[in-house]
Amino acid sequence: MSLLNRSVLVDADHVRAVVPALAPGPDHDDAFAVRFAQHFPTLHRLFGELYGTRPDVLEALTAVVHLAADSWRERPADLRALDARREADPHFFLDAGMLGGVCYVDRYAGSLAGVRRQIPYFRELGLTYLHLMPLFASPEGNSDGGYAVSSYRDVNPALGSMAELAALARELREAGISLVVDFIFNHTSDEHVWATRAVAGEVVDGVDYSDFYLIYPDRTMPDAFERTTREIFPDDHPGSFVQLPDGRWIWATFYHFQWDLNYANPAVFRAMAGEMLFLANQGVELLRMDAVAFIWKRLGTTCESLPEAHLLLQAFNAVLRMAAPSLLFKSEAIVHPDEVVTYISEEECQISYNPLQMALTWEALATRDASLLNQALERRHGLPAGTAWVNYVRSHDDIGWTFADEDAAELGIDGYPHRRFLNDFYVDRVPGSFARGVPFQDNPRTGDCRIAGTTASLAGVEAGDRGGVDRVLLAHALALSTGGIPLLYLGDEVGQLNDYAYADREAEAGDSRWVNRPFRPEAAYDSRTDPSTTAGRLFAGLRRLIEVRKETPELGGGTLLPFHTPHRGVVAFQRPGWTDERPRVLVLANVGDEAVQVDAVTLSGFDALARDLVAARTMDLRDGVTLPPHGVVWLHATPR
Ligand code: GLC
Repeated sequence: MSLLNRSVLVDADHVRAVVPALAPGPDHDDAFAVRFAQHFPTLHRLFGELYGTRPDVLEALTAVVHLAADSWRERPADLRALDARREADPHFFLDAGMLGGVCYVDRYAGSLAGVRRQIPYFRELGLTYLHLMPLFASPEGNSDGGYAVSSYRDVNPALGSMAELAALARELREAGISLVVDFIFNHTSDEHVWATRAVAGEVVDGVDYSDFYLIYPDRTMPDAFERTTREIFPDDHPGSFVQLPDGRWIWATFYHFQWDLNYANPAVFRAMAGEMLFLANQGVELLRMDAVAFIWKRLGTTCESLPEAHLLLQAFNAVLRMAAPSLLFKSEAIVHPDEVVTYISEEECQISYNPLQMALTWEALATRDASLLNQALERRHGLPAGTAWVNYVRSHDDIGWTFADEDAAELGIDGYPHRRFLNDFYVDRVPGSFARGVPFQDNPRTGDCRIAGTTASLAGVEAGDRGGVDRVLLAHALALSTGGIPLLYLGDEVGQLNDYAYADREAEAGDSRWVNRPFRPEAAYDSRTDPSTTAGRLFAGLRRLIEVRKETPELGGGTLLPFHTPHRGVVAFQRPGWTDERPRVLVLANVGDEAVQVDAVTLSGFDALARDLVAARTMDLRDGVTLPPHGVVWLHATPR
């Protein structure tokens, strides 16, 4: 039974009495007291569910509220003003004007100072959201691209300082751009001070670190867990555990130097909440919640997406609502589509990567068949009100074929061989493939494999395929038109190619994802206004799409209605905008290599005259619409 007092009121009174911001007296803070009253019942319930049987549960909960109160007190005035603005307009991110960009600080701009110098370009492109890849202190060599964090309060000194990051956040905000950083809260680097203290079994300032990670004396528990967990980075180590030099075993889902935290211990929650609030007060507006599916473990399960993972996210959220209410969470759950959506709600992660749309865009381009993608848009696109997808063409990671086998089976597609085909296609093992990808975590034992490569290399630009540029534009046109927040991997807008030199760099050679993380393609950027170059064609095409999206309110929001054409190679859907007022935007995209004529009968549900938004011309739908190979139209059309 929960050891939290059964009456939330009694516990709230206890917290009020010991947290100065809530107690009567000189430190009392009305604004905080209001937020406490609103959100404490939620946090109380979640703590009860997560930690209710522990004797220290009330103490842990009180400590977290303490942290929140301190953090609110220190919250800079400009961020409090931002909180107020967002409270007045909580769904700002559903606006058609939103556009995200993502880059590595060092690779794209050298340093934080270099990122600052790119602000004029970000504005030229129309960014309103900038995700800087992990930039925290991280061991040289064993960093997983920064995803092995040794201090959340220090920026990697090669990139700049925390003070510079806070200044950059402010400057970006003034330019209308929200700063997004990763919250890598499932694991830390083995060099984080919590990790070294855990191994040494230290108690510091009353905090016992020995229980911060999952450490076992022998193989009994690891063997038991591994009966049901899956291997994530089999090239690095088999299973979910690695052995410490003293012979004990520690949980490491990803690399052997990334150790999973033990969230069953409320002291871990409290410690991480402190790091989260610290980042919030530096001016970060959105946290990318890394590896959310893995944060809770239970014997006999896959240890992925357990109910407690959701409770933890909700608890972190409740803490934020008290102390930094404008901050939003983006879920990074690259798992089965049924699971991805379970993280998305106003109480948990307000926005989420859309790995299904991403993967199926590539699937459609390879097969020249849009059936799976259309099916996914029809049945798996809808989200709760006030939440949004982040639609992207590719990320810094590999591409995995995350579609549901049941969905594929309905279309007569067998998932296993289909994934094999896609893997072979994208690593150019299929005759006639236009793609130049590289396998990632090729696991001959399970047949599992994923794909690494830049957009241009995967789409055919590197291979010199005639359709390459148009495929890149098509993929982006989909990400820009299905709703939510479109997210661009910076450099892809000028067609950056794979960086094979990663194989010569020692720290990267063992991780083929570095092939799709090239350095800023300077020459391509220099030629971006020259229409005779690939970079120029891509940049002009993408700029036009971005411009049209921003001025077309129907492309904002997230609602999508299906549209059926008799052509297997045509992706088709309608965007009704916020209010389902007429007209709509009808999107038609041809993933095939041959032109397609969508005839007048198919389009007869709309008034005859429609506007091709991208080409800026009026069309008569009674003539049908001709889509060239890899062609896309965004038609402003009025349903009859
Ligand atoms: C996420 C990141 C990936 C990293 C992993 C471990 O999936 O996107 O790059 O390797 O988490 O932190």
